[in-house]
Amino acid sequence: MNVDTTSYGRVIGIGSYLPEKTLTNDDMAKIVETSDEWITERTGIKERHISDPDKDTSESMAVEAAKRAVADAGIDPKEIGLVIVASTTPNVLFPVLSASVQAAVDADNAMCFDVNAACPGFVTAFVTAQNYIRSGMVNCALVVGTENLTNYINWEDRGTCILFGDGAGAVVLKAETDIEYTALMRAAGKRGECMHCESYMQKGKEKTEEFLKSNYINMDGQAVFKFAVTEVPRIIEDLLAKTGTSADEIDYFILHQANRRIIESVAKRLKQPIEKFPMNIEKTANTSSASIPILLDEMKKDGRIGEGKKKVVMSSFGAGLLWGAFETEI
Ligand code: UT7
Repeated sequence: MNVDTTSYGRVIGIGSYLPEKTLTNDDMAKIVETSDEWITERTGIKERHISDPDKDTSESMAVEAAKRAVADAGIDPKEIGLVIVASTTPNVLFPVLSASVQAAVDADNAMCFDVNAACPGFVTAFVTAQNYIRSGMVNCALVVGTENLTNYINWEDRGTCILFGDGAGAVVLKAETDIEYTALMRAAGKRGECMHCESYMQKGKEKTEEFLKSNYINMDGQAVFKFAVTEVPRIIEDLLAKTGTSADEIDYFILHQANRRIIESVAKRLKQPIEKFPMNIEKTANTSSASIPILLDEMKKDGRIGEGKKKVVMSSFGAGLLWGAFETEI
């Protein structure tokens, strides 16, 4: 393999999968004490896709999204040298999801591993793949984000159950010598307690009611909100300073779809029009590590990206606390 060591990957294929079943805010109001008005006003969410327990797993959704991304890229899957799947909600611990994806798309020459970095999982996996490409170790990578979050929802907790949805998204990256790419990644483990979900499988733990509740997504929503509206604009500003780009030069800021108000706040802080911040949270809710590639797929299908070069920033944040951002052309 002859790879220029100054290469980074360009996104040459995108795919996504969303489960068929949806729950509207009115459906949610039949489950917990809430309303369409409250959810819409506080989050921007109107409906979310919910996995079908007979059909959809994190693995099956990742496979479907990956197949679509590889088909969209129009490459021979044997070209793929790396498969990374980001997921916080894998249905199996091993074989790892990336190995299942490798098998399903016939990426027989790829190395594989999964990353668990909660909501910034896709950004983390993308940045990791770029570093493998940059090092010259691989030429082409498949990066997937997949989540079956509704498995981990406490359907009695109105503060969390209205926020999340299921789905998967994937991109294919191929090395090019003339592509701009810069990333920043950060973490604050000392502030991690505000989002917490324990594994059910813990030796010696009595399955008390309290323990069972800890196996669901537990969140201090306001703390996460404050973290996001402070750190996301800060990391984007630092990234732009590092690349010497002005925010005005960026065509799209593609952010993790967690809450419309968070995205609006970032736009305001960066003094950029909200039209530069694509959103699909209304229809998908928060799909964690799948949210950015699902949105990218939608943008490619409706022509916002795909033809001609667009300068974009992608950024995500979540449990950990972890957050990151990168600037590239797409
Ligand atoms: O990927 C990262 C994942 N996490 C996040 O993105 C979370 C970020 N945080 C948020 O998005 C927001 O904090 C929430 C949407 C979770 C909550 O919105 P908020 O504006 O911060 O509301 P709040 O928690 O301050 O609650 C305000 C009121 C409370 O009632 P009282 O105490 O004022 O009487 C809540 O009990 O709203 C109540 N409330 C609800 N009411 C109707 C909380 N959830 C609901 C609900 N429906 N679903």
